[in-house]
Amino acid sequence: NKHIGILTAGGDSPGLNAAIRAIGKTALGTGRMDIVGFRDGFRGLLENRTMRLDREGLSSILTLGGTILGTSRDKPHKMPIGGEIMDMTEVICENYRRHNLDALICIGGGGTQKNAFRLAQKGLNIMTLPKTIDKDVGMTDLTFGFHTAMEIATEAIDRLHSTAHSHHRIIVVEVMGHNAGWLALGAGLAGGADVILIPEIPYDPFKVAQAIRLRQQRGTNFSIVAVAEGALSSDDHKKYQTLKKNKTKAKEDKNPKADKKASDALREFDLYRSTNTLKLSRLLEEMTGLESRITILGHLQRGGTPSAADRVLATRLGSACVGYIEQGLTGMMIAVRGEGTEPIPLDQVVGRRSTVPLDHCWVSSARNVGTCLGD
Ligand code: F6P
Repeated sequence: NKHIGILTAGGDSPGLNAAIRAIGKTALGTGRMDIVGFRDGFRGLLENRTMRLDREGLSSILTLGGTILGTSRDKPHKMPIGGEIMDMTEVICENYRRHNLDALICIGGGGTQKNAFRLAQKGLNIMTLPKTIDKDVGMTDLTFGFHTAMEIATEAIDRLHSTAHSHHRIIVVEVMGHNAGWLALGAGLAGGADVILIPEIPYDPFKVAQAIRLRQQRGTNFSIVAVAEGALSSDDHKKYQTLKKNKTKAKEDKNPKADKKASDALREFDLYRSTNTLKLSRLLEEMTGLESRITILGHLQRGGTPSAADRVLATRLGSACVGYIEQGLTGMMIAVRGEGTEPIPLDQVVGRRSTVPLDHCWVSSARNVGTCLGD
């Protein structure tokens, strides 16, 4: 029998259990494979913490949120161990061999694809699946988790409408998405937000206030502003670009002092950025004279049962992955391309985050229905 390992890494995402189930059931169904789960991402493989995934263990998990395996953001080459950060790649490779694995399936977002690729470069047979609520993994049309999160954020925006309307308020609702605007744009469109701010389009707060004032002039004294957590005003965007350039230059110059300084500055900026929604709300209050409230949807968007679409997607990707392993493929992410799935070499996936193209139909549709995008 072929021994297949599975781990889930990075932030959790609805559909993980559906994917684990699909991999497990498809693999066991071949009669030529068995499955072992590693707990808490790469850390489980490092610490040999496993979970038996037999038919009984795989049953009744399809609809569960989170991941039965647990997850972590630990990276093989940067593991926090006893207060220190250590490169544990070699130990992880050793454990892969100790478990007699023929393949390891790593389910995760952009960061996991990178970490998995590093292990593939060490000679391990690695396959990956793309999951994240951010939909920012490169080379795939979709990632599972996104659809559920968009549904949750949309429902939140729907509910915020009635309270904003009753109190004649602005409500600024912060949506996750890291540096991609897919989630805010999707939920904003579906929920009919009046303003949608995404990282790909730096915004001018005056333009946002102007859009709200225009609504006031037309007799509508409430507005919903959906803001992606990564959205920045034009001024802040410029600052951020400079900081990122400094970091890249310090790395290229192999200058550790400048590298540390650039990293510290970026960390400080992140802290400042984490209060963006509050700052924007206050500014809009000042500029429009309307009362404003904020709602940060946060991890609600990642919790709970996956939508039907995510269950189907995770099942498709999980079962396809086993098929590709049977064919002897390795070093690939199973991507969604159009109606089908396609294995994509990991070196083509890594370092290619998917963000919203400015000419995307969601952007033009938002503009067509009169949504202010802040530019
Ligand atoms: O990548 C998924 C995501 O939920 C992002 O949208 C968000 O920026 C990040 O993870 C939050 O990470 P954590 O759950 O580790 O705080």
